[in-house]
Amino acid sequence: MLEKLKGRWKVNGLNLVLIICTFAVGGSLCGWAGRKLLLLTGLEKGLAWILLYIALVTFLWPFCVLLISIPLGQFSFFIKYLTKIWNRMTGNTSPISIAIFASGAGSNAEKIIEQTMVSVKTNQCSFSVDLIVCNKPGAGVLDIAARHHIDTLLIEKEQFFRGDAYVGELQKRGISFIVLAGFLWKIPPALIKAYPNKIINIHPALLPNYGGKGMYGAKVHEAIIAAGEKESGISIHYVDELYDHGNIIFQAKCAIDENDTADSLAEKIHSLEHKHYPAVLEDLLKNAK
Ligand code: GRF
Repeated sequence: MLEKLKGRWKVNGLNLVLIICTFAVGGSLCGWAGRKLLLLTGLEKGLAWILLYIALVTFLWPFCVLLISIPLGQFSFFIKYLTKIWNRMTGNTSPISIAIFASGAGSNAEKIIEQTMVSVKTNQCSFSVDLIVCNKPGAGVLDIAARHHIDTLLIEKEQFFRGDAYVGELQKRGISFIVLAGFLWKIPPALIKAYPNKIINIHPALLPNYGGKGMYGAKVHEAIIAAGEKESGISIHYVDELYDHGNIIFQAKCAIDENDTADSLAEKIHSLEHKHYPAVLEDLLKNAK
């Protein structure tokens, strides 16, 4: 039974215990608060009391479990769990299931995940991050996935480039859209064919300049500083079979000062990415629904 729950909720043993504690403490808090509120009404115990009590605890329960989930570190699990229930009850169309491909620290992946939590609150769930695909064991993005209870898939070169590019695996998991965020391997034709115009990437420069093979991370910023450019920026684009080449969806610029270094430029670019990547994705998928 517990093993089944671990599999269904995609959590480890410790998280499962904390989730069960959240249900238990949140439920008790809800019952206690419901009875206290009923006391204020001065109602005698009877049918009206019972009906009002049921109505009250139904409304109080989500707030109580969310409240308890915060100190127990289970907030992201419960916000997703409650959203699913809410969507089922209100008949909301389910969000587009996306996979993020990332192999580095994963700061962009995390901002995108946070965006789903913001949209959940405002009830505009245009997408949900259901899988993190990574080719580097130990990459920071894997910790981020674990923290947010998101499934991960560690891929290996042979199957990616000479096998089926994991198309079957992605389809089996119901992934409809792919977001690259710091993923350095070139996307193989089989994957592009399976996801036409459904794979996007972010590049830390103003394409078509400073893109292409070997142009990634610090190398991009060093080249831009060495060339004495006065501005740089970010490009969000569709992925085709060439490096950093598909149609551009969005660009944003930042100025380069005389005393900027590759590091300080990288910081400026990162904050542009964090600000725009989740919002552009949200916009794109909202219109795709
Ligand atoms: C970003 O700068 C992005 O433009 C590039 O890879 C970097 C990933 O950074 N494609 P992070 O892992 O999201 O922090």
